[in-house]
Parts: sequence; C-alpha cells; structure tokens
Amino acid sequence: MAGQWVELELDVSAFDADRFEEYVTRCRAGGIRLTTLAELGDTPEHRRVLYELNKECAADIPERGEFYSFDEYTERRLEVPSYDPRGVVIALDGEAWVGMAATSDHGDFVFNEMTGVKAEYRGRGVSIAMKTFGMGFVRMCGARTIRTFHHPANTSAIAMNRTMGFVDAD
Ligand SMILES: CC(C)(COP(=O)(O)OP(=O)(O)OC[C@H]1O[C@@H](n2cnc3c(N)ncnc32)[C@H](O)[C@@H]1OP(=O)(O)O)[C@@H](O)C(=O)NCCC(=O)NCCS
Repeated sequence: MAGQWVELELDVSAFDADRFEEYVTRCRAGGIRLTTLAELGDTPEHRRVLYELNKECAADIPERGEFYSFDEYTERRLEVPSYDPRGVVIALDGEAWVGMAATSDHGDFVFNEMTGVKAEYRGRGVSIAMKTFGMGFVRMCGARTIRTFHHPANTSAIAMNRTMGFVDAD
C-alpha cells in the first residue's frame, strides 16, 4: 500500500473559516454538541470511550484490517509526544459520543489522525463541523499546514477533505 495513499494538505491561512462555521452552527441546531477530550476530561474512562468510537468508525476504512487492542491504541495514539487532548474533538448527542476528529501536533504542521462519525449520523456535515471546530487547536499549535492521507478507495473521506479545501500534497 505504501506510496499509493492519497496524501492531502491544507494551507491553514487559506482556510475559509466563515464558510465552514455554518457547518458548526447547523450541527448545534441539530442538537449535536462539539467539545474536546480536554474539556470532557482526559480520563481512563473517556479514553476507553474514544477507543471504542475510533474502532467502530475505523471498521469502515477500506482495508483497515484488525484494529488495535486498547493497550496498542494507548501506546501508539495517546502516549506519544504529538498527542494533545485539546486536539481531539468530540461530537455529542446528549451523552452519546457520535463523532471524533483527532489532530496531533508536529510543530510546523498538524496531522489529522482520525475523523470518524457513527454511521447513523453521517451525511449531516458532522465531520466538517468537527474539523472546523478543531481549527482553534490548529491555530494554537501555530501550524501552517494540516496533513492527512487516505486509502484511495475512501472516497467519502477524500471528498470531505477536498470540500474543506485540502489539495494533493506536493
Ligand atoms: C468520512 C466520514 C468521517 C465523513 O463524515 P460525515 O459526517 O458523514 O461527512 P459530512 O456529512 O461532514 O460530509 C462532508 C463532505 O464530505 C463529502 N462526503 C461525505 N460523505 C460522502 C459520500 N458518501 N460520498 C461522497 N462525498 C461524501 C461531501 O463533500 C460532504 O460535503 P457536503 O455535505 O457539503 O456535500 C465518515 O464517512 C466516516 O466516519 N467514515 C469512516 C471512517 C473514515 O473513513 N474516516 C476517515 C479516515 S481517518
């Protein structure tokens, strides 16, 4: 698979915030609350809920294969220097966690680790709303670029990023 990923990037200064704030407003009007793991509390219990949500959504990534165990997930995604719970956006419907958009800090750039929305909440703009909400973290990091990559068959994720202004990386 190496070399065949669709690598995308977004110039932070070119992000059309006014256009995409509308997704946040629409989400809230639909009863979805956006927050971060830092706000909710980066506790062992919440890490477990995050893991379960990530695992459920990752099952729809083409050729993702078997997901990490909780311990592997913690080691690879949470116990790393680039992890920051302020960069993990959570979408809530009441008490239920229905979406996540995790971004890690790499200094000059940030990396979109995982964006996932529970199947029954898809197609309502929740992913774009979460990533727009997460731009506060991106600016806080002082990053100039957001990077991500996808399996070429992951058309919804690629389309979602292109809608936000992501372009093919150099
Ligand atoms: C990719 C994913 C996060 C999109 O979440 P979503 O909340 O349904 O997406 P949105 O409703 O915000 O859609 C945003 C844009 O993406 C595009 N899009 C979303 N789903 C699409 C689909 N099935 N086909 C084509 N375009 C699609 C559209 O451009 C849409 O913009 P529009 O509504 O203004 O037309 C969701 O499908 C998911 O969780 N997939 C499984 C996990 C995954 O693959 N994550 C990405 C890898 S990290």
